[in-house]
Amino acid sequence: MKKYNVAVIGAGVVGVEMLRVLKQRRFPVENLKVFARSSRDIRVDGDTYKVEPVSAEGFCGVDIALFAGTEGEKGAAVTYAAEAVKRGAVVIDNGADFRMDPKVPLVVPEVNAGDLKPIRKWMLSGKNKDLSGGKESHKGIIANPNCSTIQMVVALNPLHKKYGIKKIIVTTLQASSGAGKAAVEQLNNETAGIVQGGFCNLRAEGVERAMPQQLAFNCFPHIGSFTEGGYTNEEWKLVNETHKIMHAPKIRISATTVRIPVKTGHSESIYIQTEKAVTAGQAGKALSKAAGIVMIDDLGKNLYPMPLDAEGRDETFVGRIRQDAFDKKGLWLWVVADNLRKGAATNAVQIAECLISNSR
Ligand SMILES: NC(=O)c1ccc[n+]([C@@H]2O[C@H](COP(=O)([O-])OP(=O)(O)OC[C@H]3O[C@@H](n4cnc5c(N)ncnc54)[C@H](OP(=O)(O)O)[C@@H]3O)[C@@H](O)[C@H]2O)c1
Repeated sequence: MKKYNVAVIGAGVVGVEMLRVLKQRRFPVENLKVFARSSRDIRVDGDTYKVEPVSAEGFCGVDIALFAGTEGEKGAAVTYAAEAVKRGAVVIDNGADFRMDPKVPLVVPEVNAGDLKPIRKWMLSGKNKDLSGGKESHKGIIANPNCSTIQMVVALNPLHKKYGIKKIIVTTLQASSGAGKAAVEQLNNETAGIVQGGFCNLRAEGVERAMPQQLAFNCFPHIGSFTEGGYTNEEWKLVNETHKIMHAPKIRISATTVRIPVKTGHSESIYIQTEKAVTAGQAGKALSKAAGIVMIDDLGKNLYPMPLDAEGRDETFVGRIRQDAFDKKGLWLWVVADNLRKGAATNAVQIAECLISNSR
């Protein structure tokens, strides 16, 4: 089996999960480099990885670069994705910087693996076409969608194909790890402070925090920053990314994103309106056959998906499917997935698996 030189950029909560997923899924790695801002050794599941400071030269000889550095102006991919491609790597980026670029496929393999075709062809041809002139249909970069978008499209695409979705109303309940390692530390510190200190409202304490509000014993409808129409940019990601991935720009989508005091695992309460009438039973049957989905929907036994079920798993979990009591073309679903795995690391490694599947 052909093996590949892989780089992971970022050693935060997603980067660490990336190392775990590469090993667990036995991705054929020849040589692995881990880059972040500062050098150190990290331990993941008993293995030690050497973290080196990221640099353009570090990408020499890398075949696949999995970016999990923070996003924004100084984000790792903004600075280094083109440098990595120039040196012969295919980039898979977890950040938001390239997701809506028309020359960058935004991929969830269960939904639109076909969008990888031009980049796979380029990779199989030995990457011998120069991309620097901007004439190619791609940039050698593939974007991994937002965590809450990934689990939503995995659950909705099979229903869209069969019943045609016209409208989606979604409320997300997102875990602290979705905002990175600083947010997980905030939740841990607040929880310990409250339990040990016996007070519940830390706002008066003037504590510094990574998230906009106290999270322990609280929740807040504020993920990302407020933008057009009073929605947050996280809410717009659910709209725009879903349109791009499902190739369905006409679906009307409205989202509310909420941070809750769970460590890992995002939950979503989703209402859809379909073109054709669909019962809960029909929807459940379609989803139980769909790739990447596990149904947990047995009300008699109090079984429905929870973040605790999803943590450490690669699948998307669906339950509580109910038909709208007043509309045969309306359906509720409850969808849960591990934001660090299917919402980030697993999806990125699955993309890499698709890329190499023809070259093995
Ligand atoms: N958390 C999630 O559920 C999730 C889901 C989907 C997508 N994402 C995306 O994945 C990316 C990583 O998120 P995270 O949650 O893992 O964040 P995190 O825990 O805060 O870790 C960020 C990592 O990026 C490194 N980094 C930051 N700027 C860098 C730069 N300019 N060059 C090289 N490395 C840099 C940091 O290096 P140091 O350790 O040296 O400081 C750190 O290791 C973000 O773009 C995020 O939006 C996250």
